[in-house]
Formats: sequence, C-alpha cells, structure tokens
Amino acid sequence: MRVLVTGATGRLGRVAVPRLRDAGFTVRAVSRRPATGGPGGGADGAGGGAHGAGDGVEWLPVDLDTGAGLAEAVAGTEAVLHLASSPNRDTHRIDVLGTRRLTVAAGHAGVRHLVYVSIVGVDRVPLAYYRHKLAAEQVVAAGEVPWSVLRATQFPEFLAGLLGGASRLGPVIGDRAVLAQPVDPGEVVDRLVALLSAGPSRRVEDFGGPEVLRFDEAARSWLAARGSRRPLLPVRIPGRLGRELRAGGLTTTATPTGTRTWADYLADTYGGTGRR
Ligand SMILES: NC(=O)c1ccc[n+]([C@@H]2O[C@H](COP(=O)([O-])OP(=O)(O)OC[C@H]3O[C@@H](n4cnc5c(N)ncnc54)[C@H](OP(=O)(O)O)[C@@H]3O)[C@@H](O)[C@H]2O)c1
Repeated sequence: MRVLVTGATGRLGRVAVPRLRDAGFTVRAVSRRPATGGPGGGADGAGGGAHGAGDGVEWLPVDLDTGAGLAEAVAGTEAVLHLASSPNRDTHRIDVLGTRRLTVAAGHAGVRHLVYVSIVGVDRVPLAYYRHKLAAEQVVAAGEVPWSVLRATQFPEFLAGLLGGASRLGPVIGDRAVLAQPVDPGEVVDRLVALLSAGPSRRVEDFGGPEVLRFDEAARSWLAARGSRRPLLPVRIPGRLGRELRAGGLTTTATPTGTRTWADYLADTYGGTGRR
C-alpha cells in the first residue's frame, strides 16, 4: 500500500516513516522542508544531513498553508497518515484549513483512507491549540475520504519540554495537582500502523500511557534523573483550564495503554548519569 505521511519530519513522523517502510508500505513523506528532515535528519536539525536516495522513502515538499505540492503528493496514494501540525503559530491556517486542503486533495485523488492523530482532551481542556485540533477532527470526519481518528496523550518529550520551560527561572514552577499520562511516540506509531492496515475505523479508542502522574511526581523524577536539586514552586492554574487539568482532562481510562513509562523515558534520556 502506498501511504502519504504528512509531518514526516516531526517527532511522530520521524518514527512513523521508517516503521511504515519496514512494515512493507510504500512511503511518500512530506513536510515543508523534507530535504533536510526525515529519519536521521529532523526538522530541528538533530542528526543533520540530507536523506532521500537510499532510505527507500520518497520525500516531497508540501506546504499545507498554501497547498503547494499537495496535488502531486496525494496522487497515486491509497492512504494518508496526517501528522502535520503547527501548535505555536498559524494553527488555524495549518491545522484546520490545511487539513481541509488535504482532505479535498485526497478526495480528488481517490485516496481510500485518511488517518488523523489528535490529542486526548481536545474536547475538554480549554486551550486554543486543542480547539483547533477538535476543529481539524471535524474537518476529517466531514471530508469525503473514509477516515480514522486516534487521540493520544502527551509524549514524554513534550512533558520534559514543559518542565524545562517551567524551570527556566530556577525552581520548577507548576500546578502540582495537574495530571498527565505520557505515552511513548513509538507505541502511538504502532497503533497508527495498525489502523492503516485495518482500514477506515472512524474515531477509535483513545490511547494513553501506562500511568497517570501528578505534575509534582513527574517533576521530582525528572529533576532526580537530571541530578538536579531545584525546588518545586507550586502555583494553582486558575479557572476552568486549571480545573480540567487537575481533573484529568489530559488523561484517559481507555485500555489497552502503552507500556513504556515516564521512568523508562528518563532512564533512556538521562541514563542516571546526571544533567544533559
Ligand atoms: N507532541 C505531543 O505530545 C502529541 C501528543 C498527542 C498527539 N500529538 C499530535 O501528533 C501529531 C504530530 O505531533 P509531533 O509532536 O510529531 O509534531 P511536530 O514534531 O511539531 O511536527 C510537526 C510536523 O508538521 C509539519 N508542518 C508544520 N507546518 C507545516 C505546513 N505548513 N505544511 C506542511 N507541514 C507542516 C512539520 O514539518 P516542517 O516544519 O518540516 O514543515 C513537522 O513535520 C500532531 O498532530 C500533534 O497534535 C502530539
């Protein structure tokens, strides 16, 4: 099966592309700058180096904001794995309108299945990004291409990034009762690959990590793994946002869950050898 992967240079895409190729899919991978991204490369430059010839994957440039490259990208593909997203800027244009562009182009090209990855809590937690993700889910469901939507919880890298940001001033500043359920992106990719094989399934069971952690638990183990003695400085996130985050708006009781824990991530990343 030929599958188009959007957001192929992103955190999830960098795992999904080689996994799909190794599973026997014919992979066409796209992002705005695929010439420097992809497995071993990465939109953030990590790994460096160009790819393309030799990795068994066809890389094409596509900008969902303008639609440039989209018609060529969807031509001849049977399925689309839509991972592209822009959480920090132009989110409505890229996540909502860009997803509509993609569904229309995929419909014209006769694509038979579009798989979209969303986030647990998009219909519950009042964040602007989540509102756009929910709208994008609705675009996918209203499109003419048969679809599947999987909502996953946060990746541990995302939680670690939040903790890094929360400790920029010294102590780790956060609402200690906020609940998170980090899930390994590789395990999310396993679910997405299974969905591609299963065919259009509409909204499927949410997918979360194996444990629900309070922010202070996650912060303490993160500090310990980095050999840091910084204190926690508790604050209370006000309003509905705080209430939903403390009530588990980012978590799910759905089973089965992933198996890789926050501790596994910390051990892999910091190895118990101190700060990186
Ligand atoms: N991070 C989490 O904790 C988490 C949890 C659950 C679900 N998700 C969802 O999983 C998906 C992937 O997340 P991720 O963390 O892998 O994202 P990411 O690392 O931020 O990657 C985003 C991808 O989108 C591409 N992109 C951005 N703007 C684009 C545009 N205008 N046209 C084409 N491509 C564009 C980027 O490629 P270029 O910059 O090369 O164009 C990149 O490949 C997202 O839908 C996200 O909402 C994330």
